[in-house]
Amino acid sequence: MAVTINTLREFKEKGEAFSVLTSYDATFAQVVSEAGVDAILIGDSLGMVLQGNDSTLPVTLDEMVYHTACVAKGNKGSLIMADMPFMTYGTVEAALENAAELMRAGAHMVKLEGTDWMKDTIAALSERGVPVCAHLGLTPQFVNKFGGYKVQGRDEKAAEMMIEHACELVAAGADVILLECVPAPLAARITQAVKAPVIGIGAGADTDGQVLVVHDMLGLTPGRKPKFVKNFLAEADSVQGAIEAYVKAVKDRTFPAEEHTFKA
Ligand code: KIV
Ligand code: NA
Repeated sequence: MAVTINTLREFKEKGEAFSVLTSYDATFAQVVSEAGVDAILIGDSLGMVLQGNDSTLPVTLDEMVYHTACVAKGNKGSLIMADMPFMTYGTVEAALENAAELMRAGAHMVKLEGTDWMKDTIAALSERGVPVCAHLGLTPQFVNKFGGYKVQGRDEKAAEMMIEHACELVAAGADVILLECVPAPLAARITQAVKAPVIGIGAGADTDGQVLVVHDMLGLTPGRKPKFVKNFLAEADSVQGAIEAYVKAVKDRTFPAEEHTFKA
C-alpha cells in the first residue's frame, strides 16, 4: 500500500522509526521504494551530487520539476517529497505557484528551509492542499548566512528558538519537520514537542525518521564524509542489499549510532 502522510503519523504514534532516502531518477526511485524506504526526497542536494556545484543555490525550479517527474515514474509506493529550491518561496505567491509545479510533476509534499518567517507561506500552501515539510537546523540554502556548513542549535538560546520555530511551523500547517545537523538532545526535544513526524539527518537516533543522501550511503560521494554518514554498501553485496540494510538499521534504531551523532 502506498505510503501517505497518515502512514508517517502512524509511525510516530507507534514509535516506529521510518526511513527516507534521496533519489533523483527513475532507476534509483524504483530500487529505493522496492527496498521499503518509506519516503523519497528529491533533494536540491542534486545541485552538488548530480551537477557538481559547491552548494545547492544554483538549482532551478525547472531542474527540480524534471527530477521529480523522473522519480515519480520509477516510484513504487513511497511518499515523494520535493525540495523547493533557493528563492522559489521568497513570497507566498511565488511559493504557491512554484509548489504547484512540483506537485503536478508528482510530488506529494514540498520541503522548505527556514524559520518562523515561513509561517504564512506554510499556512497558504497547507490550506490549498500542499503538504509541507519544514527543514530547520543546518539549512544548506543559508550557507552564506551561516558562513559554512555548521551544526546548529548548540547553545541553549539557539536550541530554545529552534523548538519554538518548529512548534510555530507545525501550528501553521507543516505536516513534517526535518532537522539537519543539530545536537541529538535538541532533536529529541523537538520530536517530543511537536505532533508532526520529525525526520533527522545528523540529528541522532531519537527523531521519528531518518534521511540520507543515497550517494552518501552507498559510499559514492568523493571527499571527506560527514560524521552522520554511514556507507551501507561496505557490508552489502549489492546496491539493493545496502538500501535494505539501511531500512533495517533505521527500523532497529541501530542507525544512527553514537559515532554518527552530534552530542552537543
Ligand atoms: O537536499 C537534500 O538532499 C536534503 C537532505 C539532505 C535532507 O535536503
Ligand atoms: Na535539500
